[in-house]
Amino acid sequence: MTIPAKTTFFSGLQQNLDQLREQGLYKPERVLASRQGAEVTSEDGRMLINMCANNYLGLSGQEWVAQASIEATEKYGYGLSSVRFICGTQTVHKQLEQAISKFLGTEDTILYAAAFDANGGVFEPLFDENDAIISDALNHASIIDGIRLCKAARFRYAHNDMADLEVQLQAAADKRHKVIVTDGVFSMDGTIAQLDKICDLADKYGALVMIDECHASGFMGATGRGTHEHHNVMGRIDIITGTLGKALGGAMGGFTSARKEVIDMLRQKSRPYLFSNTLAPSIAGASLAVLQKLSESTELRDRLHENTAFFRKEIERIGFTIKPGTHPVVPVMLFDAPVAQKFAARMYELGVLLSGFFYPVVPMGQARVRVQLSAAHTREQLETVLKAFEQAGRELGLLKN
Ligand SMILES: Cc1ncc(COP(=O)(O)O)c(C=O)c1O
Repeated sequence: MTIPAKTTFFSGLQQNLDQLREQGLYKPERVLASRQGAEVTSEDGRMLINMCANNYLGLSGQEWVAQASIEATEKYGYGLSSVRFICGTQTVHKQLEQAISKFLGTEDTILYAAAFDANGGVFEPLFDENDAIISDALNHASIIDGIRLCKAARFRYAHNDMADLEVQLQAAADKRHKVIVTDGVFSMDGTIAQLDKICDLADKYGALVMIDECHASGFMGATGRGTHEHHNVMGRIDIITGTLGKALGGAMGGFTSARKEVIDMLRQKSRPYLFSNTLAPSIAGASLAVLQKLSESTELRDRLHENTAFFRKEIERIGFTIKPGTHPVVPVMLFDAPVAQKFAARMYELGVLLSGFFYPVVPMGQARVRVQLSAAHTREQLETVLKAFEQAGRELGLLKN
C-alpha cells in the first residue's frame, strides 16, 4: 500500500525539524512576560538583564513612547483596513514620512509594514535587465530576497572589500544603471560599511549607492542620523532603507527614503506598499514622537555610546576576545558552537539574557555570543553582566587572563 502524499509531507517536515534539533540549529522562542527593556521578566518569572535586543536607544518599553502610541490610537483609531493608496493614508503617515526625510537629510520617504518589505520592494520598480545591482556578500536576507525579485544583473563583492567592489563595478561597466547596495552596519559583527570609500567608487564608476540603516538610524553619527552621518557622506547616498522596529521605538515598520522621483515611483510600483495594509497609526504617531525627541537632544545616543565604550573596554580587560569596533553590537568570540551554547545557557542561569550564534549564521569556527548595548542599561546593570561574564568564563575556562 502506498503512503498518501499528504502523510509523507507532514512526516517529512517532522524529520527535518528533528534533524534541526539534533544539529542544535532549532530556534526556540523565548517568551517574555514583561515589556521589552534593560531588564525583562521571563515566562517563568525570572528577572533577566537583557543583552540581546535591538533596543539601542532603550525606547521599546518606555512609558512616553507607549503614551504617544495611545494618543495616536485615540485620534486616528486602531487601523485603516486599507492599503495606503485606496483609503489608508492619514495625516500622521504623511507627517512621519516628512519627519524621517528631515532626519535623514533626504527629499521624501515611503513607509512600509517592515524594513523587510522596504528592501523586498525597492529593487524591482527601479531597476530592470539593463541594470546591475552590486551587493555586499553579507547583506541582510531581505536585501538578498529583494534583489531576487528584480531582473537586474547581480554582482556580489566580498564582504566590505573595496578592491573587489571595484572589480565588480568594472565587470558591470556595460550596464545602463549600477547600484551599490550595502548594510550601513552589519549586525553579526557590528562592522560599519566604508561609505566614504563606497561613495568615491560610486562617483568614479557612475553608480548609485543604497544603504540599509536598520542597525544605525537613531544613533550612528554625531546626531544619530545614521552611517551616512558617521562617515560624513550625507547627501551622497541615493537610497536609504531602515526600520522603526529597532532604535526608533522598537514596534515595527520600515521605510525607504530617497529623492522625490524614486519615492514617487515606489508609490506607483512597489508591491509590498501596493498590496499590503497601512502601518498602524499608533506606530506612526509613536515614531513621530521618537524622531521629535531625537532631533532635540543626543542624550540617548551619547549614553548608548558611553555604555558601548565601557562594555567593550571591560569585557576585554576580563579576558574575552571581541571583534574590534565601536558599534553597540559586540561579538564576544567563543569560536566553538557547543561552547557558545553552554555559555549562553550558563549566563541565563546567572540572570543575563544573551544569544549564541554559530554556523551557518556565522562562519564555521566563529561561534560567539552577541552582546547588544542599550542606552537603557545602567552602569550597575553592566557591572552585574560583566561579573556574570567573568564567572561563566572562568567556569568554562574561556578567559585569556
Ligand atoms: C540589516 C537589516 N535589514 C532589514 C531588517 C528587517 O527589519 P524589519 O524587522 O523592520 O523587517 C533587519 C532586521 O533584522 C536587519 O537587521
